Amino acid sequence: MCGIVGYVGHQSALDVVLDGLRRLEYRGYDSAGVAVVTGEDLAVERKAGRLQNLETLLDEVGRDNFAGTVGMGHTRWATHGAPIDRNSHPHRDTTNRVAVVHNGIIENFLALRSELEGLGVEMASDTDTETVAHLVSFAYNEGDTKGDFVASVRKVVNRLEGAFTLVFTNADEPDTVVAARRNSPLVVGVGEDEYFVASDVAAFIAHTKQAVELGQDQMVVLTRSGYQVTDFAGEPAEAKPFTVNWDLSAAEKGGHEYFMLKEIEEQPEALANTLRGHFANGRIVLDEQRLSDQDLRDVDKVFVIACGSAYHSGLVAKYAIEHWTRLPVEVELASEFRYRDPVLDRDTLVVAVSQSGETADTLEAVRHARAQKARVLAVCNTNGAQIPRESDAVLYTHAGPEIGVASTKAFLAQIAANYLVGLALAQARGTKYPDEVAREFHELEAMPEAVQRVLGTIDQVKALGRELADSKAVLFLGRHVGYPVALEGALKLKELAYMHAEGFAAGELKHGPIALIEENLPVVVVMPSPKGRAVLHSKLVSNISEIQARGARTIVIAEEGDETVRPFADHLIEIPAVPTLLQPLISTIPLQVLAAEIATARGYDVDKPRNLAKSVTVE
Ligand code: M6R
Repeated sequence: MCGIVGYVGHQSALDVVLDGLRRLEYRGYDSAGVAVVTGEDLAVERKAGRLQNLETLLDEVGRDNFAGTVGMGHTRWATHGAPIDRNSHPHRDTTNRVAVVHNGIIENFLALRSELEGLGVEMASDTDTETVAHLVSFAYNEGDTKGDFVASVRKVVNRLEGAFTLVFTNADEPDTVVAARRNSPLVVGVGEDEYFVASDVAAFIAHTKQAVELGQDQMVVLTRSGYQVTDFAGEPAEAKPFTVNWDLSAAEKGGHEYFMLKEIEEQPEALANTLRGHFANGRIVLDEQRLSDQDLRDVDKVFVIACGSAYHSGLVAKYAIEHWTRLPVEVELASEFRYRDPVLDRDTLVVAVSQSGETADTLEAVRHARAQKARVLAVCNTNGAQIPRESDAVLYTHAGPEIGVASTKAFLAQIAANYLVGLALAQARGTKYPDEVAREFHELEAMPEAVQRVLGTIDQVKALGRELADSKAVLFLGRHVGYPVALEGALKLKELAYMHAEGFAAGELKHGPIALIEENLPVVVVMPSPKGRAVLHSKLVSNISEIQARGARTIVIAEEGDETVRPFADHLIEIPAVPTLLQPLISTIPLQVLAAEIATARGYDVDKPRNLAKSVTVE
């Protein structure tokens, strides 16, 4: 949700910033803008739409006007104010000396705005961000912080409420970039005589792998001679250094048409990396476990909280965790969780699942759970993000950077990680013998190979996707663990192909949704194994025959050799036989490919679907 990059060094700031914005565009693409300190002035350009529009504008106005080695940029996901030129960042004060870029929402902006209007300031945009530029300018030009850029920023951020990452440049302080964060991400990149700030390490990974994670309510001042981290009171503060463990190629398309396809193909590796190292000396081990085995033994209820695909990964995991631990598991949309007064206490384990680790709904749910004394275990794909920082234990999914807005490899990795949590609970509580835990783990370990086999058959799914591109709607049906897979398939199609898509528990069909079935309506059915879940299988065969009789075009994902389902499938997609609880790790893949292919055939940008952003840092 908005990408930010700032730079102080010896290279062309414009080039570094634009390159960073290209890698951050997944965070928002409603508009883009840059500011570069050029001698004693500030060169600023902004443009609505994709980054490409800004690049074209820069070519028109002349990139020579942006000569300088200090600068910053922004790619926007609009919150306050429509996605038009004048609402694009950077925003400036009335003298055009101070500029700011922002990710987040300033909740007290109306009060700040009327205060500024009372001082005679005419706002040039509809944004909350612009108020900050004016406030810093006032602080810098008068009063007790006059002439002190850093103190001026500090004074203003202390007045702000809500969520913000802010980066400032000031033409009167040409060698300095100042940044501050609360509830929105910001990392510092440490190069040789050059320093970066960005929403995500992807922005500077081409220049350095050395990074520093800024904590809550911290500020950082970058100059060519170093960086200083303080708290909002101006006291020196600790920030955690880390080395990025992936390289530039992971953040590039590597010859693929779009990131999502690359990420779909990376799923075997994402799964293997997520499992690696989590079974040692005959035991499941988590990553940063600040929970003891006794804490895990004391757990009497599990909540999984998450949004979107991460929520679906929780729905899948519920079947496994309940089966292995005999603990009740509730899976809840993070955005609903804290508004319904859930029953939580210190024996409740809350598993917060988030690829980005910065989803505001999930973060607030985590805070609510901790305030109620529940233990929180984060499952996260982003090292050092806010959700794991605020949790009692962390299990990282090692899916690598996911750039496509639609979650693919992160989703599979989340299922695997949630399963590890289930096995760790079963182990601590003794509901599974050690050899049973080991067997489940080894079955999981065999899944990357099964995923690879499914990937070898996706051309058939692509061809089907092109055939379905003109459909008005698609329904998805499943039972047991196939039900959340159906929900995930529908979500993928909605977000990528802008098509009406719904996932149902197949048994519910007869209670209403069957009325939607009409001639030629594509219905995708996720079949359980005929051997593993014979009863469910035969029920689903009946469901398919019911919808086929009413004219639906049936697309059936079924285990290889499942002959009973063949007569009912207008299109049969075969997947390898795997243990029932693990089937979602492979049955999801054709649905990802189907959605991407339909979206491509309809002419849409698969990596950047309309109205969406990868990280949703507003509630
Ligand atoms: O970063 P998170 O895992 O917390 O994100 C949660 C959802 O916003 C995310 O899974 C979203 O639903 C995906 N775009 C779906 O493909």
